[in-house]
Amino acid sequence: MNQHSDAALLDLGKKSIIHDPRDGDARKITLTRARGSYVWDDAGRRYLDCTSQAWSNSLGANDPRVIDAAIAQMREITHARPNFNTHALLTLTAKLTSITPGDLNRIGYCLHGSLAVEMAMKLAFKNRPGAQNIIVMQDAYHGRSVTTMAASWPHPNNPFLPISPRFIRVPHPDAYRPRMGMALEQEVALCLSLLEDTITKGVDGGVAAIMVEPIMGNGGHIVHPKSFHQGLRDICDKHGIILIWDEIQSCFGRTGAMFAADYYGVIPDIMTFGKGIGGGFPLAGIFASDRLTGFDAGEDALTFGQFPVAMAAAIATVDAIIADGLCDNARRLGDYATQRLVEMSQRRRLIGDVRGPGLFVSVELVRDQTTKEPSPRAASEVYRRGVEKGVLFGEARYAGLGNLIKVKPPLDCTQEDMSLALDVLDEVLGSIEADGAY
Ligand SMILES: Cc1ncc(COP(=O)(O)O)c(C=O)c1O
Repeated sequence: MNQHSDAALLDLGKKSIIHDPRDGDARKITLTRARGSYVWDDAGRRYLDCTSQAWSNSLGANDPRVIDAAIAQMREITHARPNFNTHALLTLTAKLTSITPGDLNRIGYCLHGSLAVEMAMKLAFKNRPGAQNIIVMQDAYHGRSVTTMAASWPHPNNPFLPISPRFIRVPHPDAYRPRMGMALEQEVALCLSLLEDTITKGVDGGVAAIMVEPIMGNGGHIVHPKSFHQGLRDICDKHGIILIWDEIQSCFGRTGAMFAADYYGVIPDIMTFGKGIGGGFPLAGIFASDRLTGFDAGEDALTFGQFPVAMAAAIATVDAIIADGLCDNARRLGDYATQRLVEMSQRRRLIGDVRGPGLFVSVELVRDQTTKEPSPRAASEVYRRGVEKGVLFGEARYAGLGNLIKVKPPLDCTQEDMSLALDVLDEVLGSIEADGAY
């Protein structure tokens, strides 16, 4: 054992972590190694990682090109406060402006998605002085800082509510669970009309921004049709409101397009990014329209916000995503996965719905395909039995339903590995149905 793996020390470490590891939680597994689509635990067991570690190892874990770039950067300079430039910062910024959609040519950086969302909201308030509200969607998830928790779905017993800023949650369409059995386009029209009522009659103090995830990730993988996003764009233009897309989960290839804005063909005014861009290193930020006024000195500066090592890793990651054609791979593999899952849903009554696009893949598990009663227990069982069979599935435990299983391996996952994951899912769903453990 080396100095980092002394058993007593590790035990003390586990007991001293302030965050509660829930039963069956992935944090009970101590990871020691990761390569591509696989991770290993401290007992040497190998797992196929369909979570990409919170959908962040888009390129596959520890890609040698990223590690080499990070090491080379570390030899030169590891830290620079934000009022200095570094070559990594300038090169990454120039590279990103060549692939961002529309006029989203101004970039701000930080290390976490939650802070990127805060930066986006701050920029919106700066550009709409006097406006006091941000409109968000009812099943949104935007992070875990005090402010972004308030911007997300109602957190059970949110103890930080008294110190939350003003967010107005509005309804959004849901193709699988439409209100009053409405057709999707009818529900889109209803939600857009309620949104306009909210803007004109439902808030005191003006609306600075409407913030939306293009595909609602943690709030239940709800995929909106283009008509909803186009409608939000039109309403923002009509009322002079800034449209923020939170692309922290969907950016850099996850949907099979470089950005969800490319997938939908709708361009927001501000777009957040995070997760997959850093190749496993922490990096997030915003892309903003040329039309917006940027921050003045001191308005938005974080000590480690422009971490050169993460930026060097991000340059290598973006280069590799393009060179390896990983958007195409995500699309092709995602199509393969969703087709197999649709076929599986005809045999496995627990599967209520199959979602994409690209490698934004998930299934909703239900006790009954007709009533669509959610089965959070089946989702927990899939996770637990998957671990036993060497596959880590993503699991949604959000306040609404908690019944989603996500199959979101790295974008460079092979068809063989995807096939293995789906075989295991099929098998564990079969065993859960046989046991009645739902
Ligand atoms: C859409 C979205 N926004 C923001 C966040 C928060 O990012 P982070 O956990 O890096 O703070 C997440 C994380 O899951 C997310 O999915």
